[in-house]
Amino acid sequence: MEIIIQPNAAAAARLAARLLAGVIRKNPDAVLGLATGGTTLPLYGELAAMKLDWRKITTFNLDEYVGIPPQHPQSYHSFMRENLFRHINIAAKKTNIPDGLAGDIPAWCERYEKKIRAAGGIDVQLLGIGADGHIGFNEQTSSLASRTRIKTLTPQTRKDNARFFGSEDQVPHHVITMGIGTILDARHCVLLAFGKNKARAIAEAVEGPVTSMNPASVLQLHPKVTVFLDEAAAAKLKLKDYYRWVFDNKPDWQKI
Ligand code: GLP
Repeated sequence: MEIIIQPNAAAAARLAARLLAGVIRKNPDAVLGLATGGTTLPLYGELAAMKLDWRKITTFNLDEYVGIPPQHPQSYHSFMRENLFRHINIAAKKTNIPDGLAGDIPAWCERYEKKIRAAGGIDVQLLGIGADGHIGFNEQTSSLASRTRIKTLTPQTRKDNARFFGSEDQVPHHVITMGIGTILDARHCVLLAFGKNKARAIAEAVEGPVTSMNPASVLQLHPKVTVFLDEAAAAKLKLKDYYRWVFDNKPDWQKI
């Protein structure tokens, strides 16, 4: 796992955008796994400003709320449209986001998994992290082998996301999310975390035991993970000086 600590979120997002831009330029047919949440905003802002060619890029989003239509302002469909898709030249038919209104959810989830496989699998999967370590909407104690499925949100996650909905009672209880097994199948996972309320989750995910009590800790089992942090999110890491030293002394061919 490569840990990259930057002085602030803007600098970390800039570097993460450079990594993704490199992938898109090198492989114009790349398949990207996308995430939502406040953390991704500076990254999507950077990417949109880069004027990359997205025409052949395929995307699969991690998750969506169940029971709200794509036009709902707080749906992840709206989030992606507003914060990334409407600013780039991506083909709408190449963007995939779970359908929160699917009738037969298990069948829909199976088709999503098949579609990811048919696209050749995900080259780079973007991830944020919940304050409890969740990735996508894989809450604590999610199976580390799980695939795309319906999940019930914890009261804490609903509280955390209430800021987007105006009030907590408007936050849906259920979601469709890629599973942890689905995420682990991506060839490269890129996790972003900013702010002090992520510091504990990050320390546990990076330096703690692999446990479903911190779903992001499973990334320790993945061969290629890059973690972009600001100082506040890195605050509780025991080896942060080592991570800094490694980054500052990277051989040229490894530089982002
Ligand atoms: C939600 C999303 C996650 C995201 C998390 C953190 O639960 N499903 O993908 O990582 O929120 O969001 P934020 O970046 O707003 O802190």
